[in-house]
Amino acid sequence: MSDDRLTLRDLRRFAQMKQQFAVLSCYDATTARWLWRGGVQVLLVGDTAAEMILGFDSTLPASVPFMIELTAAVRRGAPQAYVIADMPFGSYQCGEDRAIRNAMKFLTNGMADIVKLEVDASFAPLVERLSHAGVPVMAHLGSRPQHVRAQGGYRAFGRRSHEADLLVDTAGLMIARGAVALLLEAVPGEVAQRVVEKVAGLDTDQIVPVIGCGAGPACHGHVIVLHDLLGLVDWHPPFATPVLNMGEQIQAAARNWVELVESGRYLKDGGPY
Ligand code: KIV
Repeated sequence: MSDDRLTLRDLRRFAQMKQQFAVLSCYDATTARWLWRGGVQVLLVGDTAAEMILGFDSTLPASVPFMIELTAAVRRGAPQAYVIADMPFGSYQCGEDRAIRNAMKFLTNGMADIVKLEVDASFAPLVERLSHAGVPVMAHLGSRPQHVRAQGGYRAFGRRSHEADLLVDTAGLMIARGAVALLLEAVPGEVAQRVVEKVAGLDTDQIVPVIGCGAGPACHGHVIVLHDLLGLVDWHPPFATPVLNMGEQIQAAARNWVELVESGRYLKDGGPY
């Protein structure tokens, strides 16, 4: 791994060379440091922080100051990583000027490399203005968890043929308006494949990396929520199988600590102080 900070050019190179890359959500500096050491070069400071860190039942309560603090923390923990900042609910839907100011804060105060927005075609003018202003945009398509209340629940997107066509067209529209990367969430593999084929036709220095979150194997990169991977949640989506039972490990460590203290053995008989 090089000592240089990863850039969009590196992601484009991976996409061009069909070298799939791993992405994880991350919300703090310490974890970012360990993920980087483990070879995860792309970190997403997702608004799932509202669920995983704050304990809410959706991503909606994540605020701009909170997300900027987390983004800056992840940057400090992994200075060379490519850091994606999620723009939270309400930060880009209330007027374009406000959205652009918020996005810029993620790049300046948050030290992110790119901002991610959950979009449909109606956001094309905003994506274009952001891109003209020098803000790199990752367009998040497919399932859009920030619409959970409006939709009455979470839903996959693109299973019906008209939805699949709409998604592929919207991906094309976002690229035409300046989006430099895409994230597809809960999209059927064959639909994601169509998007990947679409971007494969772009010039080498213009290729748009496509990151999938439960969107089949064709995507250039793949992301899941860190807490799913580590086994820290009681439920995980089928595409995010845990590799550890860290929740149980924390529980066991807590039990050991409680026993050590309650038994009166802590700091007795040759302790460090
Ligand atoms: O907030 C997040 O972690 C995300 C991923 C689930 C894609 O947007």
